[in-house]
Amino acid sequence: MAIRLGDTAPDFTAETTFGTMSFHDWLGDSWGILFSHPADFTPVCTTELGTVAKLKDEFAARNVKVLAVSVDPIESHHEWIADINETQNTVMNFPIIADPDRVVADAYDMIHPNADNTLTVRSVFVIDPAKKVRLTLTYPAATGRNFDEILRVVDSLQLTTDYQVATPANWRDGDDCIISNSVPDEDLSEKFPRGFEVIKPYLRTTPQPNR
Ligand code: BEZ
Repeated sequence: MAIRLGDTAPDFTAETTFGTMSFHDWLGDSWGILFSHPADFTPVCTTELGTVAKLKDEFAARNVKVLAVSVDPIESHHEWIADINETQNTVMNFPIIADPDRVVADAYDMIHPNADNTLTVRSVFVIDPAKKVRLTLTYPAATGRNFDEILRVVDSLQLTTDYQVATPANWRDGDDCIISNSVPDEDLSEKFPRGFEVIKPYLRTTPQPNR
């Protein structure tokens, strides 16, 4: 069954390139990003994994653990990692799940039979410390993902979890935010001491409150 926002992320135990993992235990109090790859030794996936490895410090700064999954076996993953390190000029620093029995792929509905019967699509799940799914993305096999966008969404998710704001189109960390409609006008000064602007009764902005 498809996974929807707000669902508890399915737990699983799996073999990974970092050893056997119990997913929820491994996440602990961190945010998590679980993302799937159609197959090992494929060019787009190779660039994606190298890109994520290079973003290690960005994920750490946001308290995010990243985890990839591919339906190929563990021996294949280890051979592929050598290629990723060589061609992408990096060192793989996060686990890849070996999912030959498609336990994870099925639990997260990562195989879309009308796209391909056997390969997973490029799914992304952002999971919060309460293990709730906060973002899902699905890309086709031939389109590599934009991991700067995924970091941007994590920034928005973390900000909007902690403050009564939303983020507008193309928002980036540091830009003004939209004040939630649940905040009454009379509370604006107290809740947003850095200032606010009422453009329309339903469109009120404030400098980013966690800066
Ligand atoms: C790739 O990662 O390059 C890829 C995988 C499956 C289909 C097409 C491209």
